[in-house]
Amino acid sequence: MKDEFKNTLLLHPSSLILHPFMNTICLIPGDGIGREVIPAARAVLDAAGFAARYVEAEAGWETFERRGTALPDATLELVRQASATLFGAVSSPSERVAGYRSPIVALRRELDLYACIRPVQSLPLPDARPGVDIVVVRENTEGLYSGIETREENRATATRVVTREASRRIARFALDLARANGRRRITVVHKANVLRETCGLFRETALEVLRDREGIEVNEMLVDNCAYQLARRPEQFDVIVTTNLFGDILSDVASAWGGGLGLAASANLGNNTGVFEPVHGSAPDIAGQGIANPLAAIAAAAAMLDFLGETERSRNIRAAIRTVIETGPLTPDLGGTATTGTLTNAVVTALRS
Ligand code: NAI
Ligand code: MG
Repeated sequence: MKDEFKNTLLLHPSSLILHPFMNTICLIPGDGIGREVIPAARAVLDAAGFAARYVEAEAGWETFERRGTALPDATLELVRQASATLFGAVSSPSERVAGYRSPIVALRRELDLYACIRPVQSLPLPDARPGVDIVVVRENTEGLYSGIETREENRATATRVVTREASRRIARFALDLARANGRRRITVVHKANVLRETCGLFRETALEVLRDREGIEVNEMLVDNCAYQLARRPEQFDVIVTTNLFGDILSDVASAWGGGLGLAASANLGNNTGVFEPVHGSAPDIAGQGIANPLAAIAAAAAMLDFLGETERSRNIRAAIRTVIETGPLTPDLGGTATTGTLTNAVVTALRS
């Protein structure tokens, strides 16, 4: 397991956007356990010696109930101005609520955070699988999540928008990320045999961009086979690049190999800023009990440091996460009995030693 965290996985190709004086970090705890794990991540950033100015912003269901919008303009502005944002989780109802839109989806679109990156690596945990080291690069602004849906009484439709421009930039992003991190293979995932026009355009554009990729093997795979292969033989994958919905689903499948939702982090990156978040949601079933696993949020904070060029501190945080996973204490989702606070303190202690 020794080198599992060696890569600065989320090194953004344009991460050298320079922030000359002090970084401003926007914290959005959100709802439920978001409010428990974001303070934990903040404590770890402090312990790692990361000096920043923090601003806190609100978003989510409770914000919606209070203010009639889940993503107030003031929040959007703070995110826009920040060097980076750490987002906890929000609760979004599955039934239709007039006026409610998921703030994370809205943030991605408003700020043109066009790349969603989810790394999955083996961890020294009983149910994680050794030898897995995958980054899923997902187009984050269009596809089936374009938000163009209609409903008649007995019929509903969604419009899947795929553009050459968005396909080109996500493929370019995957290529730059592979190069910056010494990765060897990029798999383009689509369903062009059925979705001939939308997936057809994505496939054609991505393969065209990836023609120029010395030293990196490029292959393609149909999405259903990719899901199967991820379940059967995840070691074969390195970088996966795909459209929005496919990336959402495949990254959840892949994350099962890295120890699950309590550990998975993701980054939403645009040309000007990044929003970093644990993959999990607000976990209403355990919210308020003090037992949420903070490691996904802490891993998101480490990814944020990579993005800001603070790679040594992020490496230290990842090493501390690994130490705690190996030695405990662990929260109940990982088979332990520790609280969020105890686990966070253990990460802080590991960082200082
Ligand atoms: P969830 O991720 O909140 O919870 C799924 C299961 O995993 C639950 O049993 C939960 O207790 C457990 N879990 C999740 N994170 C954990 C952690 N850090 N430590 C220990 N256990 C953890 O997903 P669910 O239940 O489907 O959705 C709950 C709410 O969260 C919904 O309102 C949904 O819309 C929202 N959600 C928000 C996301 C976001 O803000 N990015 C992402 C996914 C869901
Ligand atoms: Mg998802």
